[in-house]
Amino acid sequence: MMALRLLLHVALLGLGTTQSSVQGRRHFHRPVLAWPSFFDANSPLEVQEIIQIPKNGSSPLLVDVQVVVSNVFNVDILRYTMSSMLLLRLSWLDTRLAWNGSVYPRRMVMRPWNSLWTPGLTIQEALWVDWQDQSLRAQVDQDGHVELHLALTTETNCDFELLHFPRDQSDCTLSFYALSNAAMELEFQAHVVNEIVSVKREYVVRDLKVQALPQQLVPCFRVTLRLQNTALKAIIALLVPGEALLLADVCGGLLPLRATERTTYKVTLLLGYLVFHSSLVDGLPSSSSCNPLLIYYFTILLLLLFISTMETVLLAGLLACGHLRAKSSPGPAPRGERQDPGNPGPNPEEAPRGVQGPWRSWAEAADHTFFLVYVAGVVCSQFVFAGFWMWTTCKSDPAPGKDAPHGGQPRL
Ligand SMILES: *[C@@H]1O[C@H](CO)[C@@H](O)[C@H](O)[C@H]1NC(C)=O
Ligand SMILES: *[C@@H]1O[C@H](CO)[C@@H](O)[C@H](O)[C@H]1NC(C)=O
Repeated sequence: MMALRLLLHVALLGLGTTQSSVQGRRHFHRPVLAWPSFFDANSPLEVQEIIQIPKNGSSPLLVDVQVVVSNVFNVDILRYTMSSMLLLRLSWLDTRLAWNGSVYPRRMVMRPWNSLWTPGLTIQEALWVDWQDQSLRAQVDQDGHVELHLALTTETNCDFELLHFPRDQSDCTLSFYALSNAAMELEFQAHVVNEIVSVKREYVVRDLKVQALPQQLVPCFRVTLRLQNTALKAIIALLVPGEALLLADVCGGLLPLRATERTTYKVTLLLGYLVFHSSLVDGLPSSSSCNPLLIYYFTILLLLLFISTMETVLLAGLLACGHLRAKSSPGPAPRGERQDPGNPGPNPEEAPRGVQGPWRSWAEAADHTFFLVYVAGVVCSQFVFAGFWMWTTCKSDPAPGKDAPHGGQPRL
């Protein structure tokens, strides 16, 4: 908000002298005692002059920036955003504001920020910025050193690397641009201080870096925050139920094939897993590159459960078919024939010897083989996934703007 106002201010200055001089004068506080001669002369032109950027010969004006990160909250991986609170301490030298100490013996004065030149800052990644600029004042000392403190809350876009979610770590950047100045006029010297005290966070800031970006037409500096996910919630809410379902499914293979409960059991597990899967897909972010490995893991889990349920249903169907055949052929199945009218289908208690011959032994042998293969498959899939988890790395595709010949950073 403040950056915008500053920009507007500079724009107004460029538009017309009468308008800007009125704006400049409204906030003009003149000290009682001998202020530097510059302010004694009340001409609009001179008031306008101190709102221009101070000159430093042929080299750019050096503005020292200290970025204090006081909080990072609300990291939203579904929307790829992060909210943070920062304090910027800007300082520079504007000799036009210096005064004669023996005439006006104050060491330091406060002045409204819009009565002198201040750099207007814009954050490139920001969705919104809330500059807390009520009664904002700049400190000016005898020699003309200006110090300005800006507090801001902002929500910014961040390309989280979620391949290893929920143990992910990403670098988020905040690029500050002084769009109203050219790089020949202004240069930033940035430092960063970590003053985050709260640790009760899902995402913790592991590292903070700041760098001034050279070779830009607009002066800028970039703060990089390394965020690490420390949440246990995702592991408890996602991995544990998934593994438990898989284990329950493997144990379901121990039920005899002739028991009708086995089909019911497996279908119930599959249904339960489908509900879990859909809520899980809602809870995981997706992007065009480097999706979380967990998405693939849970899809493989779904396939495994599906295959095992299908096998149970198919073999139970084959058994029922064999049972019918056994029933229709006379001789070998007298008891099954006697007891079965009105009760079709495989039934362990009532027709144990009814389903005889090649069908039953074949189905049970197949079921036994499948069980062994399935257990091996499940164990293998876990190891393969663990291997993928350890060794896979992913480099996100470059942003579309980075590839284009004139893309990238804003230029004037
Ligand atoms: C002016 O530029 C010189 C050389 O870059 C630098 O050492 C000096 O601090 C600058 N002065 C101000 C007021 O920025
Ligand atoms: C400051 O003011 C005193 C008294 O008017 C004068 O003697 C002195 O030269 C001034 N100093 C500067 C640096 O202008």
